[in-house]
Amino acid sequence: MKHFTSIHDIISLEDMLAKAKQVKANPLADLELGRNKTLLMIFFDSSLRTRLSTQKAALNLGMNVIVLDINQGAWKMETERGVVMNGDKPEHILEAIPVMGSYCDMIGVRSFAKFESKEADYKEKILNQFIQYSGKPVFSMEAATRHPLQTFADLITIEEYKRTENPKIVLTWAPHPKALPQAVANSFAEWINAKGYELVITHPQGYELAEEFIGNATVEYDQDKAFEGADFIYAKNWSAYRDPNYGKVLHMDHSWCVDSRKMALTNDAYFMHCLPVRRNMIVTDDVIESPNSIVIPQAANRVVSAQVIIKELLLGIK
Ligand code: CP
Repeated sequence: MKHFTSIHDIISLEDMLAKAKQVKANPLADLELGRNKTLLMIFFDSSLRTRLSTQKAALNLGMNVIVLDINQGAWKMETERGVVMNGDKPEHILEAIPVMGSYCDMIGVRSFAKFESKEADYKEKILNQFIQYSGKPVFSMEAATRHPLQTFADLITIEEYKRTENPKIVLTWAPHPKALPQAVANSFAEWINAKGYELVITHPQGYELAEEFIGNATVEYDQDKAFEGADFIYAKNWSAYRDPNYGKVLHMDHSWCVDSRKMALTNDAYFMHCLPVRRNMIVTDDVIESPNSIVIPQAANRVVSAQVIIKELLLGIK
């Protein structure tokens, strides 16, 4: 593997899930693989799980790790060509990227959607500049349109907990006070579609995802109906995708919060969320604290997904 930005960089999903099982069973088996190799993790946006789990995964592979928070201690960075840099940004990303590449063997990048331009966000401008100019293998730690390390961990978790061969999985929108990207929802739909599981996406009118991510999923605007017979409920907020409302919060309909009444409509479903989660906006206290909530093992599997991907990238270097 040369880079990892989406499921399209994977040759076989089944093979990756099998490798995840091996990594989970013996996390230190490849301690020599990353010796004398350095991972640089670059954060344009905040993180708890991605930062810690990816660092832990790299340490399990024997790598050295450097972490850079662009907004805390680094020079402010201009990302557009042609700009007269007479403002508050003294560094251009086109110099910064190759410089950063010269200090490491692999780069992880987190850079969310900016919501200034749908076209720029959906072209993954920042991530692609790292691929083009760093000269190093690059992987996404959540970009503008996808969060593939999260979704790989989600799927590992579903494989561990599923009670039927073809579980019904529901991706439900839930309210949130701030405009969030579509990245987690996009990735989740993309990977579940690729796995071939039954996927229902439920949200209020106006929150439709891009067709390329909806794929074979059923879109159901009645949340109660969507929940009927579900084996997994995956809650997430996202802002509007369609023009002219791209990146906007259309409303915060609290009736979409996942509560115990709705969970009772399911087939004793497991509750999932990528975290961080706003309690009693997205999900009630009792649901996230219930025995059917698997958000903690889901987050723990972030180490596994990151380790499988970093290992594949290391093998691509050697
Ligand atoms: N789920 C996830 O990516 O968490 P962080 O934003 O804390 O990394």
